[in-house]
Amino acid sequence: MRINDYTAVNNIYTTKKLSFKSNSRKYLQWNEDKMYCISKMFRNDLDWNALSNFLLKNFKDKDNVKTVMFAASDGSEAYSLIISLLEHSSHQNKTAQKFFPIMAYDIDNEIVKAARSGYINTTRSDRIDLQIRCDDYSNYLTETDKELLIENDPTSILKTDYVKTMKAKRILTDNVLFNQADMFAKIKELNDNSNTVLMCRNVLGYFENDKIEEFVKLASQKLKSGSVFVIGNHDFVLFNIDDCLKKYGFEKVMNNVYKKA
Ligand SMILES: C[S@@+](CC[C@H](N)C(=O)[O-])C[C@H]1O[C@@H](n2cnc3c(N)ncnc32)[C@H](O)[C@@H]1O
Repeated sequence: MRINDYTAVNNIYTTKKLSFKSNSRKYLQWNEDKMYCISKMFRNDLDWNALSNFLLKNFKDKDNVKTVMFAASDGSEAYSLIISLLEHSSHQNKTAQKFFPIMAYDIDNEIVKAARSGYINTTRSDRIDLQIRCDDYSNYLTETDKELLIENDPTSILKTDYVKTMKAKRILTDNVLFNQADMFAKIKELNDNSNTVLMCRNVLGYFENDKIEEFVKLASQKLKSGSVFVIGNHDFVLFNIDDCLKKYGFEKVMNNVYKKA
């Protein structure tokens, strides 16, 4: 069974909050049904074009931008951001370069290993999104005969012909570093100089309310004025994270994008 973003956001399956274990991509609901969480290229809870334009403008006076991505999963999100920034930047990509390398973290070793392999499983919908967003997506990803198998991953175990493993080109792999880390620990190491983009999407919504607030509070202590915090639709499922972010000094810039006041 594959649960898409729309279903996940619009159905509150359970009143019991779920938390991740080391392999967090498959878990049981209260009724013992399996539920999967997945990532995908250009996940549609963000306006990627507007986000890229906003980031390029917001940090236009900064020489370097620290792009930190928690819950980075299989690399879909990092690759989406790199492609969006490159496709929107001027001066032969020079304005995008200051956002790289993205420091991408996930708690799940298996998914970090997959992301580091430089291969990625794409669905037909991923490839359609790529076609819409890039002049020519073969600049970024090429087809391959290799099969990337990820333990417990719903996309890779679906042996259907619409799932294709693709190889990311160096323009993607050179611009992101994938490492294993727990975001609750890693955020404490953040040193911001009003030049950080913190992506933490579709993960907080799985935690208990006090853990979500703890993380937002840490983000608020670490991020200085002008830095940006990006979340996802799933982070709203059982908690008003918008109110919480405002309480800790973040202003909404666009859907799922906040700026430290
Ligand atoms: C639903 S996926 C979201 C992926 C991506 N951010 C997106 O929005 O498509 C959640 C990811 O969070 C990771 N995760 C869960 N707890 C974490 C933690 N404490 N620190 C870092 N990553 C975590 C999981 O391993 C999983 O890959």
